[in-house]
Amino acid sequence: MPREDVRAAPRLPEEGLSDDLVLARARELMRDDLETGRVFAYVYDAARPRVRELAERVAEPFRELNALDFTVFPSLLRLENEVVGMTASLFHPGPDTVGTFTSGGTESILLAVKAARDRFRARRGEGAPAEIVMPVTAHAAFHKAAHYLGLTPVVLACDPTTFRVDPDDVRRAIGPRTAIVVASAVNYSHGVSDPIPEIGAIAAEGDVWFHVDACIGGFLLAYFERLGEPVVPFDFRVPGVSSLSVDLHKYGFAPKGSSVLLYRDRSLRRYQYFASTRWSGYPVVNATVQSTKSGGPLAGSWATLLSIGDRGYLQIAREVLAARRELERRVPEAAGLTLLGRPEAGLVAFTSESVNLFVLADRMRSRGWYIQPQPGRPEHELPPSVHLTVTPGTARRQEEFLADLAQAAAEAEGAPDPPFVRQLVEALKAQAAAGAAPVEALARWLPLLGLGPAGLPEEMAEIHALMRHLPPEWTEALLVEVVNGLFG
Ligand SMILES: Cc1ncc(COP(=O)(O)O)c(C=O)c1O
Repeated sequence: MPREDVRAAPRLPEEGLSDDLVLARARELMRDDLETGRVFAYVYDAARPRVRELAERVAEPFRELNALDFTVFPSLLRLENEVVGMTASLFHPGPDTVGTFTSGGTESILLAVKAARDRFRARRGEGAPAEIVMPVTAHAAFHKAAHYLGLTPVVLACDPTTFRVDPDDVRRAIGPRTAIVVASAVNYSHGVSDPIPEIGAIAAEGDVWFHVDACIGGFLLAYFERLGEPVVPFDFRVPGVSSLSVDLHKYGFAPKGSSVLLYRDRSLRRYQYFASTRWSGYPVVNATVQSTKSGGPLAGSWATLLSIGDRGYLQIAREVLAARRELERRVPEAAGLTLLGRPEAGLVAFTSESVNLFVLADRMRSRGWYIQPQPGRPEHELPPSVHLTVTPGTARRQEEFLADLAQAAAEAEGAPDPPFVRQLVEALKAQAAAGAAPVEALARWLPLLGLGPAGLPEEMAEIHALMRHLPPEWTEALLVEVVNGLFG
C-alpha cells in the first residue's frame, strides 16, 4: 500500500477552521502514537493523572510569560528559586549551592560544559585546546556539547560486565588539556552509576571540574537511599563534585521541558551566563541557551513538586523499585533474555545470544509496545541490548507486557540479521576502502531500506543491525541523511 508523503506541506487554510475541526485533526495526527504506559523510554508516567492535570492548570497562565525578563515577570524569579531550592534539597547542598532551571537534560549538560570550558579558558588562555574526559556510557549530550562548544572528547571504555568506568583510567586520561570530567548516576544505557567518590577525589586532587550527570537517576537514587537500597554517593556530599544535572521531566514527573543544573557554589555558575550590551536593543543577560522562554514548564514543575511532595516521591520510588525487581526476575524466565549489569535506579538492559533483539523490538512494536534497541559498540565490547525505563505507568501494565514479551521473544528466537544488512555493510565497507564519502555512498541505499519521503519503515530491525555493524562515522552520516530527508 503506498504510504503518504510525510513531507506534504499543506497551505494555511484560507479561512480559519472551526475549533471542532482543529481538535479532530489533532486527534487524527496522534492516531499512531503509542500510549505512555506501553512505552519503556522517553515518557515518564507517574500514573497519577490528578498531578498532571494540576500541573497543566497551574502552567497555563504562565505559558505566555517570558522568563527572558524576570523584572517584568517577578513571579518567574520566585518560581525558579523555589524549584531549584526544592530540587537541591535532595542532593546534600552546601551553604552556597545554586542552580538554574533549564529546558532539559541536554541543555543542563550543554551549560555545565560551557561553564567548565569558560573557567578552563579563564585559567589557561582563550585559545587553549580543551578536552572532556568521559566514559563511553556518558549520554550523547556530552558529545553534542563537545561538538557545539569545541572540546575534544576523550572517551573511556567501561568494564564489560559492570558498565562502570575504572577510576584509574580517569586518572590516566586527565592532563593539562582537561576542562571537565564527567560521570553518570546512573547511565542511561545500563542504569548503573560510575564510581563517583573515587572520581571526585581524583578531580579534586587535580583541581579539575567534575560534572555528575544525574539527569535520569537523581530523583530515584535520592529516594532509593531512603528505602535502604545501596546507592553510590553521587551528590554534593562527595568532595570534588562541581556540578550536577537532574531532570524534573524524567523521574520528577514534571511536564516536558524541565531540568535543573546545580553548582556547588555561585563562583562556578558565573561561567554559565551570557551577557551582551553590544547591540542596538535591550541589555541581554541569559542563564540558558534560550532567550525568550515560556514560564509554562517552570510553573508546571513547581506545581508537580508541591503536589507530589516528599512522601509521594518516596511512594513512587517504592513502586518503581518493585516493578524493576520483578522485571529483572521475570524477563529472563519469560523471554530468555539476560540482564546486563546490576541496575541501581529505574532502568534495565537485557541482552541475548539467541533472541534477535532488534527483531524482538519490532515484534513488540506491532503489539503496541515500545522497548528500546541499543545497538551496543563492538569496539568497546558493549553487546546489543534492549533498554527499559520503568515507571509507575509501565508497572501497571507489567503482566500484559511480560505475556507479550514471551510471545515476541519466541518469534525473534534465532532470527538472523537480514541478509540485506550483511550485503550492505560489505558494500559500504568496500566503498569506504575506495575512498567514497559516507553521504554519497549511502544515498543510493536509503530507498532500499524503506527510507525516503514516504516516511519510516514499519520495521526497524535492519536499521538497528546497520547501527551495530557500521563504524560511527557511517551510522552518524546515515542518520543525518535519513532525517534530512524526512522533514520538509
Ligand atoms: C543520563 C542522561 N543524561 C542526559 C539525558 C538527556 O536528557 P534530555 O533528553 O532531557 O535532553 C538523558 C536522557 O535520557 C539521560 O538519561
